[in-house]
Amino acid sequence: MTDTRQDVLIVGFGAVGILYGWVLEQSGSVRVTAVARSNYKAIHEQGVQLESAKFGKHAWQPYRVLQDTHQAADRDYKYIICTFKHLPDINPTKDILGPCLHRSNCFVLLQNGIGIEEPLQAVVPNATVISGAIWIGANLNDSRRVVHNDLEQLVIGRFKGEKRGPNHQTILSQMPEADADKLVEELAQLLRGGGSNTKDVSNIQPVRWKKNLWNATFSTLSTLAGEPMSQLMRDENVHFVIPIARRTMLEILFTARTVGIKEEELPAAAVDEQLSITLEQFGDIQHANEQRRGEDDEAAAGRAAFKPSMLIDYENARPMELQCIVGSILQRAREFGLETPRLDLAYSVLSVKQRKFVESSTHHKPTARMSTELAQRFARSGVSDSPVPSGTPLNLPPTPTTKV
Ligand SMILES: *[C@@H]1O[C@H](CO)[C@@H](O)[C@H](O)[C@H]1NC(C)=O
Ligand SMILES: *[C@@H]1O[C@H](CO)[C@@H](O)[C@H](O)[C@H]1NC(C)=O
Ligand SMILES: *[C@@H]1O[C@H](CO)[C@@H](O)[C@H](O)[C@H]1NC(C)=O
Repeated sequence: MTDTRQDVLIVGFGAVGILYGWVLEQSGSVRVTAVARSNYKAIHEQGVQLESAKFGKHAWQPYRVLQDTHQAADRDYKYIICTFKHLPDINPTKDILGPCLHRSNCFVLLQNGIGIEEPLQAVVPNATVISGAIWIGANLNDSRRVVHNDLEQLVIGRFKGEKRGPNHQTILSQMPEADADKLVEELAQLLRGGGSNTKDVSNIQPVRWKKNLWNATFSTLSTLAGEPMSQLMRDENVHFVIPIARRTMLEILFTARTVGIKEEELPAAAVDEQLSITLEQFGDIQHANEQRRGEDDEAAAGRAAFKPSMLIDYENARPMELQCIVGSILQRAREFGLETPRLDLAYSVLSVKQRKFVESSTHHKPTARMSTELAQRFARSGVSDSPVPSGTPLNLPPTPTTKV
């Protein structure tokens, strides 16, 4: 019997990649090629173990597991799905996908942050880039075990360009809209067919900004404090933390407004809503160690200990997703001359650490790339060579490796 399933490539086989790979194969019409980097050996030899409150317990071996995108470039794919950590300051998506860029006309980015689509769209002008925001409680344990609770929501939509500053050239897909829409619809159907709670929307950017409102605020505050969310939300701390968090969120909201995201799409009330949810989830934990919303002991303990992954990266001296979560907001704010003092502070302090992590990460030789990338970006915006405004020009050393 011939295998009529469609080929889908998943690059980055962490918790999210594994979970959505499994979901796609459950649809019955997809076979998954996975590119696993650090956990290749474990998955190749032993397969994946899924332990999910929503999907159940399953052992799974994807159709193919490969070590890199060179090996994966042997065929065409209906979709190429990116689920690796988004670190454009080390390894831009287009470099990671390199050998496979001509192997699909549809790229799906299931990653954090803002502004992750355009650099890829620029190198695949005829393809569609689908962008997704995920709410999921899943972790990878021992390289091949995914532990997942019952939270799983995915919102997808295609990249339709972004409103940017006056010196920025908008990049759009050349694919006819009807064809592109069909690709989004089909992907949503496959995912739903495999059991996922996937919604497709015509305008994905407001959804991304809304998700990033929390990450740009609380992932950074928690990382700067070096403490889990429950510590930030303790009674003794919360009166200092909440006003700063609210103003930080307003900086993000105002930036969203300048890039054209309207009140109907991302209401200002989202700020207080996110603050209330955060307080409700993480507040008052040391006094009332009570379980909430029918959770068990383990879930309550997990919530009390919850750290955003930015903090976990920081603690492990690994590069953080600082650029896509905070840097890209600052970049847009600068393009429109908007002030974001609290985000600037968070970014500048965390960048100091980020540079150290990037330089000492043995897999990459990133310093030059990081500086060039940053320098080019801000040269293009024509405002400053730094995402953080410095007022009167100072006599600073030149950014290394800048080509002018
Ligand atoms: C995009 O499609 C056009 C027209 O079919 C073709 O001329 C061009 O080479 C394609 N570009 C890329 C990068 O594939
Ligand atoms: C992984 O799972 C094992 C067995 O359930 C557990 O003992 C261990 O603490 C887990 N490790 C992490 C990092 O969660
Ligand atoms: C972003 O926020 C979610 C919670 O909404 C959290 O699980 C995740 O770890 C955060 N990501 C980063 C990079 O901090």
